[in-house]
Amino acid sequence: MDKNLYADHIATLSRRYDEILGECGFDSLNVYSGAPKMQFLDDNPYPFKVNPHFKALVPVTDNPHSWVIYRRGQKPKLLFYRPVDFWHYVPPAPKTFWSEFYDIELLSKPAEAKEFLNAENTAFIGEGDRLQGWPLGSDNPELLINHLHWARAYKTPYEIACLREANRIAVAGHQAAEQAFRSGASEFEINQAYLSAAGQGENRMPYGNIVALNEHAAILHYTHLSTQRLPEAELRTFLIDAGADCNGYCSDITRTYAYADSEFAQLLAAMDEKQLELVNGLKPGLPYPDLHRQCHLKVGQLLAQFGVIKTSAEGAVESGLTRPFMPHGLGHFLGLQVHDVGGFQSGPEGGTTPPPAEYPFLRTSRTIEENQVFTIEPGLYFIDSLLDELKATDLAAEVNWDKVEDFRPYGGVRIEDNIVVRAEGNVNLSRDGFIGF
Ligand code: GLY
Ligand code: MN
Ligand code: MN
Repeated sequence: MDKNLYADHIATLSRRYDEILGECGFDSLNVYSGAPKMQFLDDNPYPFKVNPHFKALVPVTDNPHSWVIYRRGQKPKLLFYRPVDFWHYVPPAPKTFWSEFYDIELLSKPAEAKEFLNAENTAFIGEGDRLQGWPLGSDNPELLINHLHWARAYKTPYEIACLREANRIAVAGHQAAEQAFRSGASEFEINQAYLSAAGQGENRMPYGNIVALNEHAAILHYTHLSTQRLPEAELRTFLIDAGADCNGYCSDITRTYAYADSEFAQLLAAMDEKQLELVNGLKPGLPYPDLHRQCHLKVGQLLAQFGVIKTSAEGAVESGLTRPFMPHGLGHFLGLQVHDVGGFQSGPEGGTTPPPAEYPFLRTSRTIEENQVFTIEPGLYFIDSLLDELKATDLAAEVNWDKVEDFRPYGGVRIEDNIVVRAEGNVNLSRDGFIGF
C-alpha cells in the first residue's frame, strides 16, 4: 500500500480524533487489540478477531495483546506484542508503510503494557474484562464511541484503496468459484477454489462464505458447504456471497449464475439490470430507505414481468406482496466490518433511527452522503417458509403458484456490489474488479 495514502489517512484520523476527544472531555485513548477467547472447557481459542477500533488505526488484524495509545496532538504510540514463544507464530517488528507514523514499543509479555498506560483524562476502547486493576481510563464511553462510529462512515482515499483491493482479491475468488461450479464441483470444493484463488483462509474471510447450489440459494445465510457433487443434469443455480480482507477492510460481493439457458437465466439478466439502476440511484441527499423502497418496486416489476404475480408492481409493493420474495435489506455500510457500524445512528452524538416498520431487516436508515461506501444487493427468492406463510394470507390469490413451482428449484438470485458514493458518479469497486481495474 502507498505510504502517502496512509500518511493522508492518519492525518485525517488525527484531526477527527483530536476534535472528538476535545468534545468528549478526554485527552487520550487506550485502544486494546484484544485477547484470544478460549472455547468452553477447552484449551483452544476461537479464531482471534481484533477490536475494530484498533484496526481503524493500525492495519494489523492478527496480533492480540497490543495497544494504541493516542494522545491529542502527539504521535501515537503502538505497543506491539512480540512474545518469546516457541508454540506460536510471532510477527516481526513492524517495518512497513504505516510503521513510521507510530512510536513503537515491543512487549514481550502482555502485562508490560501496564507501565505505558495512564488512566487520567483517558478513554479505554476495547474488551477489558480480563484487565481488572489496570489503569485503563473510562470504559468505552458511549458518547465518544458514537462520535467515532459516525465518522467511520466517511471513508478516506486510503480506506477506499483498501476496499478496492479487498474487492480485487474477492473477484479472483469469484472467478475461480464460477469455473469450479461449471466443472461440477461440490459446494465444499467450490469454496476451496475460492479461498485458494483469493489466497486467504476461511478465518480471514469477513463473514462465512455463502456457496449455494440450486434450492440452497434460497437460504439467505447458507454456510453449510455440502460435499456432494451433483450430476450435470441437476446443476441449475450457483449463488456465491463471499468477500476478502485488505488491511482489515472487507469486501462483500454476491453473484448468481445459471448453469444453462432457462427462464431463470432471463430473470438473472433482468435482475442484473435492476441492480445497476439501483447502484445509480445511490445519490447524496437521498435517505437509504427510499432506495430500498425503489428496490421493492423493481422486485415487483420482475415478479410481474415473469408472471409470478398477477398484480402490478405498485400494487404488490403497497400490499406487501414483494416482501416474502425480498425479505432482507437492500444493503448496508461497508468498511472495517462487513456490516459497518453507525447504520441507524441519528447523529454524531448518538440516537437511533430505526428502519421503516415494514422493512425491519434493512440495516441502515441513514441519508446517503459522498464518500460513504454501501453494498447494493437486491434479491428475489423462492423461500419455502415465507411462501407457506404467504399461502395462508389473502394475498395468496395474487400469486401465480404454478410459476412459483417452476422457479422454486432454482432457489433465488442476489447480486451484490460495493459502491463508493460520489456526486459526479459512483464508483463500483466490485464491477471494476470483474473488468480488471
Ligand atoms: N454477506 C452478508 C451480507 O451480504 O450482508
Ligand atoms: Mn453479502
Ligand atoms: Mn452485504
